[in-house]
Amino acid sequence: MSVVVELRHISKRFPGVVANKDVSLKVQSGSVHALVGENGAGKSTVMKILYGMQRPDGGEILVNGQQVNFKNPNEAIEAGIGMVHQHFMLADNFTVLENIILGSEPKKSGQIDFNEARNKISEMANTYGLEINPDELVENLGVGQRQRVEILKVLYRGASILIFDEPTAVLVPQEVDDLFGALHGLREKGMSVIFISHKLDEVLRVADEVTVIRAGSTVAEVKSKDVTSKQLAELMVGSELPKPETKGNTKRENIVLELNQVTVPSKGARNLLSNISFKLHAGEVIGIAGVEGNGQSELTETILGLLEYTGQISFDGKTIDTKSVSERRDLGIGFIPEDRHRQALMLGSPLWENRILGYQRSKPIFNGFILDKKATMQDTQVIMQEFDVRAPGPNTLATALSGGNQQKFIVGREMVHAPKLLVASHPTRGVDVGAQGAIWEELRKAREKGMAIVLISADLEELIGMSDRLLVMLRGEVTAELDPAQTTPEKLGAAMTGAK
Ligand SMILES: Nc1ncnc2c1ncn2[C@@H]1O[C@H](COP(=O)(O)OP(=O)(O)OP(=O)(O)O)[C@@H](O)[C@H]1O
Ligand SMILES: [Mg+2]
Repeated sequence: MSVVVELRHISKRFPGVVANKDVSLKVQSGSVHALVGENGAGKSTVMKILYGMQRPDGGEILVNGQQVNFKNPNEAIEAGIGMVHQHFMLADNFTVLENIILGSEPKKSGQIDFNEARNKISEMANTYGLEINPDELVENLGVGQRQRVEILKVLYRGASILIFDEPTAVLVPQEVDDLFGALHGLREKGMSVIFISHKLDEVLRVADEVTVIRAGSTVAEVKSKDVTSKQLAELMVGSELPKPETKGNTKRENIVLELNQVTVPSKGARNLLSNISFKLHAGEVIGIAGVEGNGQSELTETILGLLEYTGQISFDGKTIDTKSVSERRDLGIGFIPEDRHRQALMLGSPLWENRILGYQRSKPIFNGFILDKKATMQDTQVIMQEFDVRAPGPNTLATALSGGNQQKFIVGREMVHAPKLLVASHPTRGVDVGAQGAIWEELRKAREKGMAIVLISADLEELIGMSDRLLVMLRGEVTAELDPAQTTPEKLGAAMTGAK
């Protein structure tokens, strides 16, 4: 084996922050190399540097033994490096095929040669088990499928070194297996994969080697077979792995949320939601399991009032069917949306302005007359402290936060209002093991105090550990109800795919 990528002593600072102090790593050809570390440790930054999206302040990069100095991603792509981002960068209103070839269209006598593109894509899709309909519009795809498009796009450009930034954060177990199958396929063909993840069990399952970064510096490089996930966690944060679990029964008498035969029709063959009914009490957590795209997002959006539906939804004993989104929010419904970039943040705005989102009529932001900037700034600071959002201050732009710190901020923004009902989609997605434990603790405390929680998660251990009841959704319907105390991730996974 030979070293295909070597980073030596990379450093990078942003105003007020040292993102990389001294990051070194070596990637062997034909291997899967994982990069782990706390939120904000500098993982995404160093990968952006390797991909030419950021310029390092110091250090060296060698690709196949040659020193390189990429000025932009195009130069990295030329050198055979491709990156699949933590947040997909696809054009929604283009088809899969158009997205894949965008910028490197095959031409035949001046025209785009769609046939050639189509053949090449289906060949790649077959080779790597990344099946996809090339003519589907990207806006109609679920997260797992969007990721396939991103991967195909990178392969289409001839990458032999693929960088993945938290590829599994958004996937359900079956999709993770598929992805890992694909990664091992790539490895067998001599390609190299660098992969960032917070899921240490997965890291050990798929990676050959692991580099651990702490506070911007490489602290260890180990072989997967030589360590346990516990040891990895200790290298990362110096503490043990937290567990998702709630204790005892905190369910109260009053029903906070009730859905009765809620249906969301669509123009397609099946309803987006069909006859969903359930009751949720104060102090109770209902977990919604399902393979991405089986109605979970529509369920959350319906409860929030973002989608039209038939049937009845009542909150605190009163119907809310005619209430708008903002009226529902004002009644005490908190929301952690599934896609933090599209639905939860204004990336180009400072944190204090992001603090306002959804709460422009609530104290302390709105004092009855005007938006109180000073109070909002202070409150933003409080959230940042309580939820360990690591960033210079309330004036920092949301885009400058690491992924996990953005997520902690969004969770904090909802939790400080202590909503009666929290609709939480993937609340710990992309946060490190330490922060994950802290968010679970917040949810536990809120449940004890009587918050009703609708929890949607692709992390089955989280769903099972945190929920009092579990509903399984398939094709817009609730197809099973399971007792979390009696189920395992394997059983739940089987129920999610409809297997008996
Ligand atoms: N464009 C930017 N401007 C200013 N600061 C930035 C920028 N990008 C990253 N940072 C800061 O650099 C540090 C490292 O961020 P990075 O995104 O590399 O972390 P990470 O290890 O990927 O974390 P996570 O696991 O949360 O995704 C953080 O403190 C972050 O706030
Ligand atoms: Mg990151």
